[in-house]
Amino acid sequence: MKVAVVGATGMVGEVMLKVLAERNFPITELLLVASERSVGKKLAYKGEDYTIIGLADAVAAKPHIAIFSAGGDTSLEWAPKFAEVGTTVVDNSSAWRMDPSKKLVVPEINADGLTATDKIIANPNCSTIQLVMALAPLHKKYKMKRVVISTYQSVSGTGVKAVRQLENEIAGIDGEMAYPYPIGRNALPHCDVFLENGYTKEEMKLAREPQKILDDRTFSVSATAVRIPTAGGHSESVNVEFLNDFELNEVRKILNDTPGVTVQDNPDTNTYPMPIYAHDKDEVFVGRIRRDETQRNTLNMWIVSDNLRKGAATNAVQIAEYLVDKKLV
Ligand SMILES: NC(=O)c1ccc[n+]([C@@H]2O[C@H](COP(=O)([O-])OP(=O)(O)OC[C@H]3O[C@@H](n4cnc5c(N)ncnc54)[C@H](OP(=O)(O)O)[C@@H]3O)[C@@H](O)[C@H]2O)c1
Repeated sequence: MKVAVVGATGMVGEVMLKVLAERNFPITELLLVASERSVGKKLAYKGEDYTIIGLADAVAAKPHIAIFSAGGDTSLEWAPKFAEVGTTVVDNSSAWRMDPSKKLVVPEINADGLTATDKIIANPNCSTIQLVMALAPLHKKYKMKRVVISTYQSVSGTGVKAVRQLENEIAGIDGEMAYPYPIGRNALPHCDVFLENGYTKEEMKLAREPQKILDDRTFSVSATAVRIPTAGGHSESVNVEFLNDFELNEVRKILNDTPGVTVQDNPDTNTYPMPIYAHDKDEVFVGRIRRDETQRNTLNMWIVSDNLRKGAATNAVQIAEYLVDKKLV
């Protein structure tokens, strides 16, 4: 496969290269792409140096697959140009996710809907991916009615600028700000931009994307997204009301039997998911599984995953692997 990684110099791009190498993705030619600022610089992949090229050169090379992690505007402008020359684009930005003509894919849940005619495929939001990984098998069994979620999201979810802001604050350096306020020793109830309805764009992604991925509009999601000063890994407090009742042991078993999900849940040993343990792992970790004692058929749980891996790079590479495996590219 001739593969282009667009946004190779970014937070997600760096992990993308690591995941492609780890999983031994069948690459015969690799094109590393970034903005004009980075063209000519070098990046290593599997011990070999590659020179960063610009988007126009990458389109001209007609790669089989282009994995985009370069922001929504870049995707909106350039993904169709790649698609026109026959490239299949897997896009990490929010540009195409809610476009009815594009598929929004978490491979464990809905990759089987992909066909060779899907030339731009959307990777869901990082917080959405870890949420639906845990919700999908429970929805299948108990049917969700309503989900209330509060997120505790790491600065790596915003990109390199935000990680640098936190590092500068810790080092006492007066540097460039990615957020309107300090993030160290703080919590910002503000992820992505505010919308007219008072929610942030991140909160609306969490409300809409699960319905599209699970192809079901009969349940609703209400979200509050909060940025906290963790370096990597998003955490989520999730309250789910089901139509049908459940047994906690059965819930644990269903989650444990779900590929890609690991249950870490033992109050006796202080065992629960945490970002520091999810770091650099592909699994979605679920713990603090307990019944909401204030409402029928309602479950509380705590979900943690590495936002740069399953929340972005790993999910995108899994989509690419599926395309190759099923000969869709
Ligand atoms: N961070 C996460 O957890 C996460 C999770 C899921 C999805 N995403 C999405 O992935 C994308 C990248 O996020 P990130 O966190 O990796 O951001 P980042 O660290 O800021 O990196 C941005 C990347 O995009 C490139 N880029 C920016 N403008 C460009 C342009 N006009 N043309 C070509 N390349 C351009 C940058 O290249 P230069 O170095 O040359 O500027 C860099 O490689 C975003 O759309 C984001 O929403 C992020």
